[in-house]
Amino acid sequence: MAHRSCLSAFLLLLLALEFVTVMGVTLPQCRGIVASDVDRVQFALNLEFFEAEFFLFGALGKGVDDFEPSFAQGGPPPVGARIANLDPTIRSIIEEFGYQEIGHLRSIIRTVGGIPRPLLNLTVQAFTEVVNLATNTTLSPPFDPYANSLNFLLASYVIPYVGLVGYVGTIPNLVSSNNRALVASLLGVEAGQDAVIRALLYQRANEIVIPYGLTVANFTNHISELRNRLAMCGVKDEGLIVPLQLGAENRTTSNILSADANSLSYSRTPTEILRILYGSGNESRPGGFLPNGGSGRIAMTFLP
Ligand SMILES: *[C@@H]1O[C@H](CO)[C@@H](O)[C@H](O)[C@H]1NC(C)=O
Ligand SMILES: *[C@@H]1O[C@H](CO)[C@@H](O)[C@H](O)[C@H]1NC(C)=O
Ligand SMILES: *[C@@H]1O[C@H](CO)[C@@H](O)[C@H](O)[C@H]1NC(C)=O
Ligand SMILES: *[C@@H]1O[C@H](CO)[C@@H](O)[C@H](O)[C@H]1NC(C)=O
Ligand SMILES: *[C@@H]1O[C@H](CO)[C@@H](O)[C@H](O)[C@H]1NC(C)=O
Repeated sequence: MAHRSCLSAFLLLLLALEFVTVMGVTLPQCRGIVASDVDRVQFALNLEFFEAEFFLFGALGKGVDDFEPSFAQGGPPPVGARIANLDPTIRSIIEEFGYQEIGHLRSIIRTVGGIPRPLLNLTVQAFTEVVNLATNTTLSPPFDPYANSLNFLLASYVIPYVGLVGYVGTIPNLVSSNNRALVASLLGVEAGQDAVIRALLYQRANEIVIPYGLTVANFTNHISELRNRLAMCGVKDEGLIVPLQLGAENRTTSNILSADANSLSYSRTPTEILRILYGSGNESRPGGFLPNGGSGRIAMTFLP
């Protein structure tokens, strides 16, 4: 019960916050942070490690340490990641995405240096909790991201998009053109991966996710709403089927790509991203996929 009323309070707060944003004031929690290029680019490693481990384990049953053991810089291996029960097409797509993340890790480490891999909680339970929170129910049986292709794609909807909007938020703040070039090139591929995941889900938008009685579109809408709620900076995240006023030029209910009124990508700050990754709505309260908090100077600044 406490949980429920807490959520409703959250929603009221969000409404109040959006009002303030509309009045032309940027909320304190939505303002960007002061940080160096190196810190900003290294912050992205938290998301790149997440994606690399989730995709590689999902497709192949092995992770970053099996390909590039030096990248983790002493950080612990992920907990709970495992091979998923994927059909051959999805497996080869996810395998490719996993290798792409290794390239991203390598490029970031070469350009600005690495940071220890954070402890990643990729257990079934960590995903179950997010999906339960998003759908405001206790799904039974618990949602298992590794059970089949559809569940894995829905789980892939949860975090990679956050990396994409994070890169959009990072580029304008970078001083060095080398770093801007790197992040623009990372953004290109992350956006491509997001588009593929969303297009695959869109083809199945009206399908019921067995045995939950909710459609694929319902799941994406709920997950997007949860991320908006946790990040606390208005609507920057939209599901696959939306009201007309969120569609392209207010003319579509299909929403294969999530973007603003002019179809420009949304952007997020590091604190918004931490609030989502921790599942706590608080950049100082680790949990969720990063039980010990993020790695690197930016994430560590907020740790108690
Ligand atoms: C991972 O998350 C689940 C669900 O919250 C939790 O029960 C488990 O203890 C977590 N594992 C670690 C290593 O933090
Ligand atoms: C969650 O569901 C309960 C009823 O089960 C409802 O009272 C509450 O308003 C819902 N909360 C949100 C955030 O949708
Ligand atoms: C699921 O989606 C359908 C159609 O988009 C909508 O009418 C329904 O309210 C949604 N259900 C939930 C529980 O979100
Ligand atoms: C779409 O609707 C929003 C309000 O919901 C409005 O701000 C925007 O100008 C509209 N866009 C177009 C192209 O009509
Ligand atoms: C966020 O968490 C920190 C550490 O637990 C706490 O001190 C702070 O009050 C929390 N902030 C909000 C807005 O709840």
